[in-house]
Amino acid sequence: MPPALLSDFPLIQGPPADGFYLQYETAGLTLRHAEAGPNDNGLCLDLLDGNVERRAAGGRKSPLAKAIGLRRHPDSSVLDTTCGLGRDAATLAALGCTATTLERHPVLFALVEDARERAAQIEVRPHWLANWSANIRADAINWLAQQSAQPGFDVIYIDPMFESTRRKARPQKALAWLGELVGGDTDVGELLDLALARAGRQVVVKQHARSKPLAPPDRSVEGKAIRFDIFLVRDRV
Ligand SMILES: C[S@@+](CC[C@H](N)C(=O)[O-])C[C@H]1O[C@@H](n2cnc3c(N)ncnc32)[C@H](O)[C@@H]1O
Repeated sequence: MPPALLSDFPLIQGPPADGFYLQYETAGLTLRHAEAGPNDNGLCLDLLDGNVERRAAGGRKSPLAKAIGLRRHPDSSVLDTTCGLGRDAATLAALGCTATTLERHPVLFALVEDARERAAQIEVRPHWLANWSANIRADAINWLAQQSAQPGFDVIYIDPMFESTRRKARPQKALAWLGELVGGDTDVGELLDLALARAGRQVVVKQHARSKPLAPPDRSVEGKAIRFDIFLVRDRV
């Protein structure tokens, strides 16, 4: 019996002739592509594979931690408006933030919920799981528009899907599939405006290192292949 989070998807008796499909497997909920080869393992999100810990290993010196401002504000509450595969959210939680995530795509939301559920079932839960307080299926633009102007989160985080991710020569499979499923997040400008009106301290936008900022940032933190643009919240009138 599929759990409630899958109620939006039609139940099919076998793999479709083309396109993506979801399948329950021993490892967990898995995204598969009908045209993928027989050796393709599909995409099953494993938040316990050590990746979160590796990404958080840089502590407050890591570019993500610097962008959020964790040295001065170690207990920041962060709203990740673009949860995707939840890797940034889990890393933020591992770095000590209280993370709340929003995701509008039902497949991405289902994959992350399934992975969070599996992580919660093991005997020794990862320490960061408790800091990831909620994962909500919603369009962040609608969701933020309904929140009061009183800021509920110190930082609002945006990691949009850009066209360039899809055009990269050999993108990692997870990223390539994400791009194919979700397409480009062309409404990210609207999301930034709304985030600036709702964040308590700042908005952080993750970008490819060489891409043009959405708007002139107050400052940026450079990573290896990425850049975090930081927009400070001005005094509200
Ligand atoms: C590049 S991915 C984010 C990857 C994520 N940071 C991670 O660590 O896995 C962008 C995701 O944001 C989602 N997204 C984009 N705009 C959104 C919005 N307005 N509301 C909710 N989700 C959104 C897309 O559906 C996609 O899954």
